[in-house]
Amino acid sequence: MAPRKLAAGNWKMNGDLAALAEIDALVAAHPAPGCEVLICPPAVLLHPMKARVDGGAIALGGQDCHAKASGAHTGDIAAAQLKGVGASYVILGHSERRADHGETDAVVAAKAAAAHAAGLTAIICVGETEAQRDREETLTVIASQLDGSIPEGATAANTVIAYEPVWAIGTGRTPTNDQIAEVHALMRERLAGKVGDASQVRLLYGGSVKPDNAAQIFALPHVDGALVGGASLKAADFGRIIAAL
Ligand code: G3P
Repeated sequence: MAPRKLAAGNWKMNGDLAALAEIDALVAAHPAPGCEVLICPPAVLLHPMKARVDGGAIALGGQDCHAKASGAHTGDIAAAQLKGVGASYVILGHSERRADHGETDAVVAAKAAAAHAAGLTAIICVGETEAQRDREETLTVIASQLDGSIPEGATAANTVIAYEPVWAIGTGRTPTNDQIAEVHALMRERLAGKVGDASQVRLLYGGSVKPDNAAQIFALPHVDGALVGGASLKAADFGRIIAAL
């Protein structure tokens, strides 16, 4: 059986208390969505957002966590703290964190292990740069990021993988259907050696997913949903993506 599809919104460093109105609109418009729906807002919005979605069909997630459970790490957030305010997911290894904060595969794997220990599902992101794709290194890069970023103990229940080509993020450009399908097939195959129930691990595509291209991307083999940035900020747009899944 195919895994349950997931529509995940990554608000990145966008949104404030006023933006919670978008969540109200989303809850009202999609009381019983046909797929799992997740919003990962900035950490400061998790708690107030939880109050808005409680009892509803929208799950919440963080955008990062520390590899340690607690301690002297100014500005960081522990996985258990995310869990404590209502998150059930956390995005890890997003290319913006890999680039802005020098996160390596090993760091991502350690954070994912911490997320699992706290009872969170880790959404581990991988993706090639444009230069890597031009050099035809895409499949090697993705395989190596998967090998290095997935911790021991990963299962289909506690791990989701997001393929986000760096050059497609926020650019309005997307890979061809064949390019997406090729990477997702590789990921499925690669996971088989690392995760017992690999066929059930949800593989998301991310990078300029919009209401107009969502259905075509979701129809591709081994695409089990999307990790959406800009188009997740407005309930109307994200709602159309949810409806396409
Ligand atoms: O994590 C989602 C992401 O990086 C894609 O962003 O704005 O291209 O949908 P966007």
